[in-house]
Order: sequence, then structure tokens, then C-alpha cells
Amino acid sequence: MMFAAGQKVARLQDLLEGKGKLVCVDGEEIALFKIEGKIFAVGNVCPHQHFSKLHEGILNGKTLTCPMHGWSYDVESGKAVNADGRLKTFVVDIRGEDVFLLSEWTPLENNGNVDAKNKSESV
Ligand code: FES
Repeated sequence: MMFAAGQKVARLQDLLEGKGKLVCVDGEEIALFKIEGKIFAVGNVCPHQHFSKLHEGILNGKTLTCPMHGWSYDVESGKAVNADGRLKTFVVDIRGEDVFLLSEWTPLENNGNVDAKNKSESV
């Protein structure tokens, strides 16, 4: 999924630290999280049984736990931490007070560089 010039999905003030916000882009549910001032965007569908509840998940640092059965994911890489699977992750850009999604981000395995995907700055 690619958004030509970016897709505005929220205002920064709408995002509460550590609490998910559900947005819908081109029919796809995406969960936004603000963690220590940085914004992360992941697909809202849990790979386990495909419930769309991740925006209601529990955060512990950057680890998001699905409220349905407890599968957990790193919101930066999307990788499951206690099972096999991966969430979709999206490139986030902050422009002034607005949060944009630029594209779906496909991580390169083993490059160890996940910071490059999140262009948001601490606020
Ligand atoms: S649907 Fe998320 S852990 Fe089962």
C-alpha cells in the first residue's frame, strides 16, 4: 500500500501517550500509537485469529499485546515477540501538528535498522 503524497490520518493532539487510536485508510484499519513522543502505525488486524482489536491492545514500552488472546508484537518492527507472525507497519511522517502515513513499510530482515522507518520527531 502506497500513499502518493502521504495520507493525513490524525492530528498529534488526538494521540494520547500509550493509548491506541483507530483510523481507516483506503478501507484498511490502522492502529496509531504514541510512545515516548514517537508515533507508530500498525495494521489493526492481529495475525493470530484476525480480530481487529489491536488499537485496544496493552502497551508495555514498544510491545503491544492483543487484548484477545495475548499475542504480543513490537510496534516498530511489527514482529511478534511470543509467537510467529508480523503486523503490517507503516511509515509515519509528522508535518507540523499532523500525522501522515507515507506507505506500508516492509522491513528488511537482519539489517537491524528499524529507526529509519519512523520519521516522526519527539514532541
Ligand atoms: S486474535 Fe490477537 S491474540 Fe488472538
